[in-house]
Amino acid sequence: MIKKKGDIMGIDHTVIIGLQYGDEGKGRVLDKILSEEHYDIVARFNGGPNAGHTLSVGDKSIVLHQIPSGIFYPDKELYVGSGCVLNPEKTNLEISEINRLGIDLEKRLFISPNVSLIQPHHILLDKLLGKAIGSTGNGIGPAYADRALRATGQDSSDLCLKNLRVVDGLDYDKVEKVCKDNLKQVVSQYNLKEIDVDDLVRNFNFHLVKLGSYFNDDPLFLEKQVKDGKRIFFEGAQSVMLDSDTGSVPYVTSSRTLAGAVYTGGDISVRHKLKVIGVAKAIMSRVGNGPFISEFGGRRSELYCAVEGGKKYVKEVEREMYGTNNSSGINKLLQSDDFFEMGVALRMLGGEYGATTKRPRRIGMLDLVMLRQNCLMNGVDELYINKIDCLSDFKKTKLQGIPIVTGYRLGKDLIDYIPPSIDDCYQTTAEIGYLTYHLEDISKIRTFNQLPVEVKNNLLCLETAVGVEIKGIGVGPERDQFVPIK
Ligand code: IMP
Repeated sequence: MIKKKGDIMGIDHTVIIGLQYGDEGKGRVLDKILSEEHYDIVARFNGGPNAGHTLSVGDKSIVLHQIPSGIFYPDKELYVGSGCVLNPEKTNLEISEINRLGIDLEKRLFISPNVSLIQPHHILLDKLLGKAIGSTGNGIGPAYADRALRATGQDSSDLCLKNLRVVDGLDYDKVEKVCKDNLKQVVSQYNLKEIDVDDLVRNFNFHLVKLGSYFNDDPLFLEKQVKDGKRIFFEGAQSVMLDSDTGSVPYVTSSRTLAGAVYTGGDISVRHKLKVIGVAKAIMSRVGNGPFISEFGGRRSELYCAVEGGKKYVKEVEREMYGTNNSSGINKLLQSDDFFEMGVALRMLGGEYGATTKRPRRIGMLDLVMLRQNCLMNGVDELYINKIDCLSDFKKTKLQGIPIVTGYRLGKDLIDYIPPSIDDCYQTTAEIGYLTYHLEDISKIRTFNQLPVEVKNNLLCLETAVGVEIKGIGVGPERDQFVPIK
């Protein structure tokens, strides 16, 4: 009899996804799990340099965009799956930063041959066209669009080959021709006189060649590893509400962000069992444009946060404007009857500004309709909720408790799902319920038993409403500020 290894013997793989609009703190939950359970490979299956995962171990800290988390665990291999897009220059920069921390990635990092490359023209196009939805400007949308376009350059149309993949990367002449043709076309179409085409193409090619030793040419790489008994932890980038097909379209990213995308972009087959870990934040945030039903200050907050591409009201500017360099200034905002001002205060208290872009994040109440829907749609097995400590900020407001969204009203109807139409989303109002405040500071608590009874009851209430077991909560930003829930 053939000896069967891998998950057939009960070894499961795991995926971690964000259940809201990104920035839920997936990285810290992943880090916690990697330090406690054995996995051999950390793999990405979607997205590209639009992601930003902050990792800190001891005095070492780094923000990863394209390299899978897990760099601090030398025994773990790192894999970039075919569902990703990759910017070679940025990846090299990231590798150099990792090397500077004394970590070597040779023979540890493997990039799928089917990953599409973000070319210089993608970045130009994104900067021109991605503003409307508040894209990160990394060329993500145009790169996925060229992949989907499937232009061959072989027919009579004037469409030259658009998409380049890792597998093309070492064919220097092909890359140079395709990349240059694409760039010239965009430069001429948008009259971008200041662009030095030759320089950008040379740079692109240089970085591609430099990255070559990490390219993998075997599409069965992960399958073979699993057959050898290896266990994989898949790291989702962006979040469920930013899914290209089922998120708040068109204000989404361009890849599939759902747990099921592991089976396409993550290069393992559907026969492998997957545990799904979902991460949410107790006070939600969103960057970029688009509906956000539970947002403090609604549309006003959305427009405010978008001024100058989100670059105007950075932390220092907001502090100055609202006179909140001391706690009495912030308390005044918290006491406001205006939800918009309360949102500003919560942003400041929670440090909700983009890690890379510094953009102010829009702030909203915990939305249980969204959480329930996203847990259901993704088969979430275990739920982690970060920033539970931040809920104590509500005790300084005039509200009767911690506000949470318990239902939606669209016109006269109560609905229990997120309307797929953007217009309907903007028309939808939130039904608000209240959890009980906890009065104590919980940031130093590390065990469930030590938690105040109000927090325990609130967690039970959330668990019942969402229908998924809560496995852990974040009670502060530091690595150890975490309470496992038995
Ligand atoms: P893109 O992925 O750069 O095209 O941006 C599309 C939308 O997704 C914008 O609203 C971005 O702000 C948002 N987005 C992309 N990546 C992330 C992320 O890692 N966290 C939060 N939002 C993101």
